[in-house]
Amino acid sequence: MTIKILALSGSQRAGSSNSLLVRAAAAGAEAEGAHITVLDWAAYDMPLYDPDREKAEGFPDAVLRFKALLRAHQGFLIASPEYNGSLTPLLKNAIDWASRPAAGEPPMACYKHKVIGLLSTSPGVFGGVTGLVHLRAILSRLGSFVIPEQYPVGEAGKLFDESGAMRDPKLRAIAEGIGARTAKVLKHWPDATP
Ligand SMILES: Cc1cc2nc3c(=O)[nH]c(=O)nc-3n(C[C@H](O)[C@H](O)[C@H](O)COP(=O)(O)O)c2cc1C
Repeated sequence: MTIKILALSGSQRAGSSNSLLVRAAAAGAEAEGAHITVLDWAAYDMPLYDPDREKAEGFPDAVLRFKALLRAHQGFLIASPEYNGSLTPLLKNAIDWASRPAAGEPPMACYKHKVIGLLSTSPGVFGGVTGLVHLRAILSRLGSFVIPEQYPVGEAGKLFDESGAMRDPKLRAIAEGIGARTAKVLKHWPDATP
């Protein structure tokens, strides 16, 4: 069975340090044989979730495609910046939309039994660890298994070279380790469908 992992950044900023960090983690998963898809938020431009809008108009096309993308992967790697001690509104909005069941869809179909590895980076020394506490709690509540290992790494501005690679091989190995661990768990995960 091919292990399929979706790599998501909680930031759509050009030059986002979290987008670079999740790519480093994805390389570790790839080395374990996983197939990686890197999410491009530009292709999934979702409005702010509004129950009245959902009732009147149903799911926007971008949400349907995002939900299908989540369902098509057994695991996710997520690197999200911390905004005011929590995850970004971009990521929370997408998580909320995808938690809404489409007609005939089992509850939490986008999240149940997914295996998830978390990372974060920020300019400060704590690397966004408080945001990961929230993200872990949310994803666990939705039915995902978030691996115990995670990697919040500080001083984001110093981490990457001009090519976007992590400068310090020791830090790069830790980031790759989150991806590798996620892929390894998935290899033995009883619910790893599709
Ligand atoms: C609204 C807002 C709130 C922020 N709050 C925090 C915070 O609580 N902790 C932190 O470490 N950084 C905080 N930051 C700084 C972000 O971590 C920083 O912008 C980071 O580089 C964003 O990640 P990116 O490079 O992937 O876009 C905040 C930034 C913004 C815009």
